[in-house]
Amino acid sequence: MPNCESDMTDDIAVLAHPRTKVAQSSATQAVLEVENLTKHFEMHHLGERLFAFEGVTFRLFPGQFLLVTGRNGAGKSTLLRTLYRSYRPKGGHVWLDTAEGRIDLARAADVDIALLRRREIGFVTQFLNPRPRVTAEDIVAEPLRLAGRQKGEAVDEARRWLGEFGVKRELWAAYPSTFSGGEQQKVNLARALILPQRLLMLDEPTASLDVNARHALIRRLSALKEAGIAMVGVFHHRADIADLVDSELDLTTQEVHHVAE
Ligand SMILES: Nc1ncnc2c1ncn2[C@@H]1O[C@H](COP(=O)(O)OP(=O)(O)OP(=O)(O)O)[C@@H](O)[C@H]1O
Ligand SMILES: [Mg+2]
Repeated sequence: MPNCESDMTDDIAVLAHPRTKVAQSSATQAVLEVENLTKHFEMHHLGERLFAFEGVTFRLFPGQFLLVTGRNGAGKSTLLRTLYRSYRPKGGHVWLDTAEGRIDLARAADVDIALLRRREIGFVTQFLNPRPRVTAEDIVAEPLRLAGRQKGEAVDEARRWLGEFGVKRELWAAYPSTFSGGEQQKVNLARALILPQRLLMLDEPTASLDVNARHALIRRLSALKEAGIAMVGVFHHRADIADLVDSELDLTTQEVHHVAE
């Protein structure tokens, strides 16, 4: 998970206690509605302000896949982190349709963001964050355990996903801190994708994967799309996900294009 920026602290608009205020949602509503989203970084040592992106606007419906493109430094990772609220935006709205109604992630209280990350929004990065003395199968099973699943059942399913992504059986009960980069990434994917969430962000998840794991990832993403999960992704090799993409947001021009059938 990306590091939180220092401006993500207490100047938070807590709209209601204990939960952020929500609005009613309807069945046909967009999963995600982003309006005029703007993010910049204050470069205090330079006395300058760096715009990552400005006025980004799009809507995403269930099962839709938005590909985010743009040159290096265009702001792709920053956009995903801002949607996930690791970064606080400078302006705009990020309306998410949740089980409890529409919530503006740009303004929601940190406590609510933490809950939403368990149940509604997932983020797949290129890197696993291995923890000391936690086995691969326990790391992968954790989202299921947090969702209340019984331990044996959660670990069985974790093993199934480790197998699916091609992690060798003898590594399942080992600690991933010594795994290779590709093996760590496979554990990361199994963990991030084991529990379907309403909205999934993906930041170059195929980097360092072998061909079998890439195929396993595409199969999983296709199944999630089929199940109505909305996705926003950055992919270095667009051929990997060409069949999944519904629209494209080019951050160099900040235009959204719909992909023809
Ligand atoms: N925490 C930060 N503080 C200051 N500037 C940042 C921070 N994070 C990113 N930036 C700057 O914001 C711009 C966008 O960075 P970002 O990582 O979003 O680009 P990207 O489109 O994902 O690039 P790449 O294709 O190389 O992954 C860059 O110029 C980067 O230097
Ligand atoms: Mg990036």
